[in-house]
Amino acid sequence: MEFERALYSRRAVREYADRPVDEAVLRQLIDAAIQAPSAVDEQPWIFSIVRDPILLARISEAAKAHVLAGALARSLPEHLHDRLADANFDVLYHAPVLIVISSASPGPWAPINCALAAENLMLAARDAGLGSCWIGLVQDWLTTPEGKAAIGAPETCLPVAPIILGHPLNQPAPVARKEPEIIWVGR
Ligand SMILES: Cc1cc2nc3c(=O)[nH]c(=O)nc-3n(C[C@H](O)[C@H](O)[C@H](O)COP(=O)(O)O)c2cc1C
Repeated sequence: MEFERALYSRRAVREYADRPVDEAVLRQLIDAAIQAPSAVDEQPWIFSIVRDPILLARISEAAKAHVLAGALARSLPEHLHDRLADANFDVLYHAPVLIVISSASPGPWAPINCALAAENLMLAARDAGLGSCWIGLVQDWLTTPEGKAAIGAPETCLPVAPIILGHPLNQPAPVARKEPEIIWVGR
């Protein structure tokens, strides 16, 4: 797929086929992710790959409870609050794979480095015919000792980017982009 097509057709996918993703493909996606730039070339990424459906369901449950018990719950729109309280709602949308990109250490550039790797990974997934979606709702729980243990991440790392992946059941419609605010400075 041409780069421009992959870039413009990547969408947040929230419906997945009940079909695994080949390990070789996952390795290709990680190889694409690590082509991202990183501050002082630290390349601090750690990739946790979760495919066990029981663990995926446990992560969804724990993350929902964590969000509902925390400060974020008060700022959530009512419909999202209700959805999180619904025992049948899987915050990971029954995707067959969750990749969490963590930074080996929590420095000032940690979220930026991991987010750059995450975007590469999501574009490479689109190029490979896969769907993906960043799941911010599980991020805070993943930074807890219990969350890090669940994804095998060292206690000293900072989990940043939880990305679900799988074979998409459909191609979601584009989400309209707002006109960007551009400030031309000088000539
Ligand atoms: C940091 C971040 C967190 C996100 N968290 C969630 C999430 O928890 N659940 C979800 O369904 N989508 C989540 N998304 C996906 C966005 O809702 C989606 O990217 C946005 O609506 C634009 O749609 P598009 O990606 O198809 O262009 C997240 C995206 C980002 C970048």
